[in-house]
Parts: sequence; C-alpha cells; structure tokens
Amino acid sequence: MEQAALKERAAFAAVDRLVTSGMKLGLGTGSTAIHAVRRVGALLAQGRLRDICAVATSQGTAMECENLGIPLYTLNAKAIGGRLDLTIDGADEVDGENRCVKGGGGALLLEKITAYASAAWAVVVDESKCRSRLGPGFPVPVEVVEEARLTVKARLEALGAEVSLREAVRKAGPVITEHGNLILDARFPEPPSPEFLEGELNNIPGVVENGFFTRLRPLVFIARTDGTVEERP
Ligand code: 5RP
Repeated sequence: MEQAALKERAAFAAVDRLVTSGMKLGLGTGSTAIHAVRRVGALLAQGRLRDICAVATSQGTAMECENLGIPLYTLNAKAIGGRLDLTIDGADEVDGENRCVKGGGGALLLEKITAYASAAWAVVVDESKCRSRLGPGFPVPVEVVEEARLTVKARLEALGAEVSLREAVRKAGPVITEHGNLILDARFPEPPSPEFLEGELNNIPGVVENGFFTRLRPLVFIARTDGTVEERP
C-alpha cells in the first residue's frame, strides 16, 4: 500500500476505535492527522457522531474543521475548560516505548499543550515512522524566541546536537511559527535519553518548547504495508 493510504488507514482506525459522541477532542496537525479530522467531519455529517467540541493544534487544522463544520473551540473556552478527553495526532518518529518526536509541521507548541491536557492521547503513523532510537534520525524541532537564536544554538551544540535554522519554503528567510518564533532543528547523533532532553532543552533560556514527547505515552496506531493496523499501548 502507498504511504498516503497508510496514513488514512491509521487515522481512520483511531477515530473509529476511540472517538465517541460528546467528547472534547484535540485534533492534530499534518498529512496523517488531517485524515482523522476528515473522518470526524464525515461521521458528524452522517449523524453517527454528535456534540463533539474540537480544539485544533494549528491554523491549518482549524481551517479544515471550519470547512467541515466541526465545532471548534480554544483550550480556554468555557466548553473545554483546559481539559480534553482525547487528542489524536501524527508524529515524525515513534520508538518502541511510544516516545515521539513531533513538530515537523512546526505546530509542536500547541500540539504539546493539547496532548498533555488530554486524558488520552492517540498517535497515528505509518510504519515508516517507527524507530529503535529517537534523536539521530529526524531532527528534533526546538521553538525559540528570535533574540535567543544563537545562545540556544550554542547550548544545543554543547549537548551534542547538529543544529540548523528551519528555512521557509516559498518565503525568503526562516519559518516563523504561529506564535511568532523561530525553529531550530537539532539532530542528536549520540542522544542522551529523550526524557532527559525533553526537560533539559526547555531549561535553556529562550526555548519555548521542544519536539520530544515523552511524558504521556500515547496509544499508537501503526498502519503497515500488509494492510493491518497495529494498536500499540
Ligand atoms: C506537525 C507534526 C506532525 O504530526 C508530524 O510532523 C507528522 O506529520 P505527517 O503526518 O505529515 O508526516 O508534529 O507539527
């Protein structure tokens, strides 16, 4: 099966298995999570789901919700009260302990706030995202305020990272996040533990958030090329 079909399959499996009427639902960002958004929209339109209160993790996801008529709230809205029943999101890499690297789409800040505010978190991936170790492969995004670009870069390098400023496509200059910050992509050829790095990176002055997700272990839906979807607790 093609990767695009696998992404859809993983996302549909998570929605069909976990989403029920009345839920406060976090909706992730990216080319896999978008299929979960579309599935929720279709089930609402068919009347098979009701009374969903959704929180989007990016402007792109919010726009898709608006197009599909999915009722959208902020995390601070009275109907949500800062707590969600479930968030479904994609990931850039997942290891055997369901720790993740996220933020390939630059939405790591809201993705982490939303995931960690959820009673349950599901991650939907195709099998190409599975890794034995996090760090040496997909570079970990680190969102930083502009003034701290060089000081954070130096601290990341002191931790053993190879660092590059994320450049925009079809815009001159760097990516500016939805929160007005820059992203440093940090590859760790010899990474300390992801738990250590998740905390340590956020201790650097000027770091807003980083793309290690280790504190809440998700239920991972892995779509495999043989057509099966593994549900890994
Ligand atoms: C966006 C993310 C995405 O979930 C991650 O990049 C995976 O994206 P895709 O499903 O398009 O491969 O963290 O910030």
